[in-house]
Parts: sequence; C-alpha cells; structure tokens
Amino acid sequence: MIKPKSKIIATGSYTPDKIYTNEYFEKIVDTSDEWIRTRTGMKERHIIGEGQNTSDLSAQAARNALDEANLSPQDVDMILVATVSGDVGFPATACFVQEKLGAYNAIAFDISAACSGFIYGLDLADAYISSGRAKYVLVIGAEALSRITDYSDRNTCVLFGDGAGAAVLAPAEDDHGILATLLQTDGRLNHLLYVPGLGTKNPPSHESVDQGLHTIRMEGREVFKHAVKAMGDAAVQVIKKAEWSGKDVDWLIPHQANLRIIDATAKRANVAQERVFINIHKYGNTSAASIPIALDEARKQGKIKDGHNVVFVAFGAGFTWAAAAIKM
Ligand code: ACO
Repeated sequence: MIKPKSKIIATGSYTPDKIYTNEYFEKIVDTSDEWIRTRTGMKERHIIGEGQNTSDLSAQAARNALDEANLSPQDVDMILVATVSGDVGFPATACFVQEKLGAYNAIAFDISAACSGFIYGLDLADAYISSGRAKYVLVIGAEALSRITDYSDRNTCVLFGDGAGAAVLAPAEDDHGILATLLQTDGRLNHLLYVPGLGTKNPPSHESVDQGLHTIRMEGREVFKHAVKAMGDAAVQVIKKAEWSGKDVDWLIPHQANLRIIDATAKRANVAQERVFINIHKYGNTSAASIPIALDEARKQGKIKDGHNVVFVAFGAGFTWAAAAIKM
C-alpha cells in the first residue's frame, strides 16, 4: 500500500459576480447558444470586475480555504499561485497574494503551466512537505483570462472564464493524501495555444496592441485532439500508479475545457459518468482555476467525502498535462 506524505486539509474558491451568458456572445460575435452548448457544454462564465485583479480572486479563495483549515495566514510556509494571467509582468502574483493575506512567513511564487498548473502546484507542494521543508502549503489556481481574450474572435472568446480555487496541504498522518502524481510537457507543440505578446518576443508596442498580440491564439481542433489523448492516457496511468482501477475512483475531477473532452477522458479511464464532477456549464474554461474550483464545489456540496478516491486530470498550453490520485 502506498503511504502518502501530504494531504489536502481544506479548500476554498471564489468567482466574480459578473456573468457572460451564451446569449451575451450572440450579441457580440457570430455564434449561437446552441453551437456553444453542443460543442463545449458551456452556458455561463464569471468575469472579473473592474478594479479586481487575479491576486484578489486568489486571496479570497485562499482565505476561504484557511478558514476551513482553522489556520492563520502566519501558519503558511509556502504560497504557490498557478496562473498564466497574473496581475503584472513581474513580480509573481503569489507575492501580491502574500501581502493581501498578511502571510509574511511564506515564500511565494507562481507556476506557469496553463491549465495543468494546479496539479503541478500540488506535486511541488507534496515534494516540499515530503522533504520536511514546509508544513502548510497554499496551492492556488487563479485566472482572469478575460483580460487576455480577443472578444472579436468567436473561436476563443466564448470559451474562457475567470475565478480562483485554493487548497491547503499539510503532512499526511494516515493513509489519506496524495498517492500518485504524473506531470508531462511537450514544448514542441507550444504554437498551438499561446499568447504571442506580453513577453520579450513581441514587447508591447502600439503595433502589437493593434494586432492583438496580447490575446490568446488557439488551434482549437488540434488542441482538442491532443487533449483527448493526453488526458485519457494520464488518467489511466495515475489510476494504475495509485494501485486502483477505474472502478475504485469515487470522483474524477477533470479540467473543464470541453464537455466532449471530459466524456472521452472518463470513458478511457473507465470511470462511470455519474462519478465525473462537471461544472463547465457555470464557469467555462478557467484554466488553472478549474480543478480547484470544482474540487471545492464538490466538497461543499457533500459529494466528495472523507476517504473518497479522487482523480484530477488536466491538459493545457505548453503543452502540459498532469494527473493526481488522492485519497481525501
Ligand atoms: N460559434 C459558432 N461557430 C464557431 C465558433 C463559435 N463560437 N467557434 C468556432 N466556430 C466555427 C469554426 O469557425 C468552424 O467553422 P468552419 O468549419 O467554417 O471553419 C466550425 O465552427 C467548426 O470548428 P471546429 O474547430 O471544428 O470546432 P470544434 O468542434 O473542434 O470545437 C472548440 C471548437 C470548442 C474550440 C474545440 O476544438 C475545443 O474545445 N478545443 C480545445 C480547447 C481546449 O481544450 N483548450 C485547452 C486549454 S486552454 C488553456 O490552456 C489556457
């Protein structure tokens, strides 16, 4: 039997109040509610408010998680924020989160692994806790992709939403915790999903803004194909690593990018449909935030209970993909 080293002791999430419905997109681009629902499963997404930043979403999700854990911000040793839509070029959004929480004992930095970022963060937190270098770690997935979305491009604008989810990790004391993780990257496929500007390659200029280089570019069909294969493979492998079969999985929490990708992943991993947690209709694709928001919802709705076997699986820009098997 695998002996876990760290476990999730609490979760929190926060999504902003403003909502873009499918009907809203019917007014701004050539699309329809029917197309969006049948192709993606999405109905609504939450959108960050004026004056709000990614660190505000993150800090609120983190406060909710710390409250549940009954910990004070001073107890936190490490803050990891998984995001590709941080507050500023630098410093890391995690530094702003540290300030907002007053968690001054924590080291803080960001993880840039797109939609897989939260699972990459869990793996890093597990490594720090396993080696005794940290006791309490806050892992946050947070995005405000609406700020880097081209709202004249129907191929991408209907897909993304904003929000944050957080988990507090602590040393495992029994058989509950992270049993297995799997992280993978293929940088050769970076051109299929990326933001061309905002960095050294195309520094911001009047021209770069006119060309929309600060917004998301995606070859949807190609991303779809790779996501189906990678997420299916990763789920199967992590279930095996945890010494389970698909039937042992109480809840599969996949990255919420497309309902058809989710269905294909569950089928491949041999997890029954009613064991798959889905909230894509409410939030769209919130990238790194999607799994921790779903995890928090599933726990707060009483669906995920103590002792349940849970699998996370994600795929995103890079390409990156990842999975984790956890006894809650
Ligand atoms: N409304 C109406 N028509 C549309 C829309 C829209 N919003 N968007 C695209 N179309 C059109 C296309 O222009 C295309 O028209 P054409 O055939 O005349 O060229 C047609 O619909 C079909 O396009 P496809 O690309 O074949 O549609 P598909 O079934 O693949 O669905 C989608 C597109 C939803 C984008 C899908 O490919 C997908 O979900 N891809 C994966 C996205 C993803 O997982 N991203 C990963 C992570 S994101 C991150 O890491 C930040």
